[in-house]
Amino acid sequence: MKEKIIQYIEKVDNLSAKTSSEIENIRIEYLGKKGLMNELFEQFKEIPPQEKKEIGLLLNNLKKSVETKIEFLKNSIENSYSKEEDKEDLTKPYNEKVLGSSHPLSIVRNQIIEIFSSIGYVVEEAGEIEDDWHVFSALNFAEEHPARDMQDTFFIEKREDNNHTVLRTHTSSVQVRTMEKQAPPIRMIAPGRVFRNEAISARAHCIFHQIEGLYIDKGVSFADLKQNLLYFAKEFFGENTQIRLRPSYFPFTEPSAEMDVSCNLCGGKGCNICKGTGWLEIMGCGMVDPNVLEASKIDSSIYSGFAFGMGIERIAMLKYGVRDLRLYFENDIRFLEQFSSSF
Ligand code: DAH
Repeated sequence: MKEKIIQYIEKVDNLSAKTSSEIENIRIEYLGKKGLMNELFEQFKEIPPQEKKEIGLLLNNLKKSVETKIEFLKNSIENSYSKEEDKEDLTKPYNEKVLGSSHPLSIVRNQIIEIFSSIGYVVEEAGEIEDDWHVFSALNFAEEHPARDMQDTFFIEKREDNNHTVLRTHTSSVQVRTMEKQAPPIRMIAPGRVFRNEAISARAHCIFHQIEGLYIDKGVSFADLKQNLLYFAKEFFGENTQIRLRPSYFPFTEPSAEMDVSCNLCGGKGCNICKGTGWLEIMGCGMVDPNVLEASKIDSSIYSGFAFGMGIERIAMLKYGVRDLRLYFENDIRFLEQFSSSF
């Protein structure tokens, strides 16, 4: 019996198979109910006790060899599946590398920057962590203004002197930083992230993006404001775009206005995006309040200026017909890859 088992071990070592059904046949032949292993274990019962130890070991070795061989054959079939095919067709197109695309908010931000840069605006930046002075007080917010409330503002540190550390709630803080470090004429835009303590929904988020604009010089008038914003609207939304300015209120501008553009989806006829009005509200603006100039030590008897601010998410929603703001932040490739653009 000993010789028989050794012969089988050698035989198993030389087994080969090309398909999985051949492997299955080997398994049945050796390990199946009526297979060789069970037959040998039956015979094992009959052998004299003094041979049992040696033969038992050999039998176990044979069983292990069969199992190892079957595993090996299975693996080699799996790994060799396409090697032949790959060799065959050298003319096949290569697998194109999938490149990422710019985020829709980056695309829109860059377009806005480009338009304002073309008429002399310079990009300014400042920190996202700010103090009360630059976000509120220097912008003429009254002490009890609701925007300072815990409900809107993320406070980082409360301070004795009330100049609390906050996350900026708007990019208007960059106006103040720029006026502090630079004498007029000033012509700047400030793109950046802003933070508000709001519940996240299809229309609101606690983190979003704005672009602030500021122009200060001698003799700047409301007509300049209108002309600059009309130029922007035509460049961004198309040559036929109209604008209208509605009176509004912001603490830092006087007079203040809300700017609408004619709906570029229905051409002003009225649709569900513009809610039948033919107009889309896109930004706040106004003449810089003299108190704001004075707070940053700019003489309001010599200089005047205008400011404007818009939300990038909203502009991108109008441009691309995006209905839910949360899509911008979920990083779902199926959403993002629709916005192709050069890097
Ligand atoms: N800071 C305003 C906001 O966050 C937007 C804004 C309105 C900015 C009017 C301005 C402006 O500069 O003149 O809602």
